[in-house]
Amino acid sequence: MANYPELKGKVAVITGSSKGLGRAIAERYAKEGVHVVLNYRSSEDEMNKVIEGIEAAGGKAVAVKGDVAEEGLAEKMIETAVSEFGKMDIFVNNAGVQVEAKTHEMELDNWKKIIDTNLTGTFLGVRAALKYFVDHEIKGNIINMSSVHEVIPRPGYTHYAASKGGVKMFTKSVALEYAPNKIRVNGIAPGAIDTPINEETMQDPEEKKGLEALIPTHEIGRPEQIAAVAAWLASDESSYVTGATIFADGGLSLYPSFGPENK
Ligand code: NAI
Repeated sequence: MANYPELKGKVAVITGSSKGLGRAIAERYAKEGVHVVLNYRSSEDEMNKVIEGIEAAGGKAVAVKGDVAEEGLAEKMIETAVSEFGKMDIFVNNAGVQVEAKTHEMELDNWKKIIDTNLTGTFLGVRAALKYFVDHEIKGNIINMSSVHEVIPRPGYTHYAASKGGVKMFTKSVALEYAPNKIRVNGIAPGAIDTPINEETMQDPEEKKGLEALIPTHEIGRPEQIAAVAAWLASDESSYVTGATIFADGGLSLYPSFGPENK
């Protein structure tokens, strides 16, 4: 379903897009006629399947291998966008990881992995996208994947919460800095979505039930519901929106314990 005709022919870069939310955003963008430059770290087979699916549906996609935490990947993805499709209009910083650990036992390497991927990776993507947009005077669009944990504390994953809190203020600050350039910068804060990152929870009926009970709408989200937000944020329908985080979480960030079912 293509809802935004103005997106046809635009070019998007999406990090971490061999599965999960990145994949869903790539597939939705391709349906809107956006040419996509995708990214995977190791799973080439999975990535190729995504590209084949997009091409079979009439879309255009290429992939660049690399780690978002390393300097140079974002520039390489933009160069690929330009060489393959002539330009770059939308940059989605989606790649992210989480690893559980008690804070008093957390290895420094674990802390660094999460911060380097989720926060520094977002910085590197944003920096490269801004440079391209500023140099070419393009009113570009940047979307950063945050989480409800940019506001909800998360014991056991304090580094993850710190990284997403960082993404929140980084997104807002960059949005303000580049508002005069008409570059829009927004975040998406998903709640609990059925992707490989939540595989363990989804496969354990008890844990899944517990999670559903916690969400005010009692529904775990589908990747397509997040991709729909990413499509809207990239479209002209959101042309006056910058520096915002759009929560797509079934009400998870609304202090559920105050809800009618807990009275
Ligand atoms: P996922 O684990 O299913 O997919 C993450 C993707 O990022 C994978 O393709 C993975 O290979 C890639 N990736 C991880 N580290 C990378 C790196 N250093 N360099 C390049 N690629 C890398 O996870 P999911 O659910 O699709 O998550 C996507 C984003 O959404 C993440 O930023 C995550 O924090 C965020 N998010 C997800 C939620 C969920 O419930 N699924 C909830 C809130 C936020």
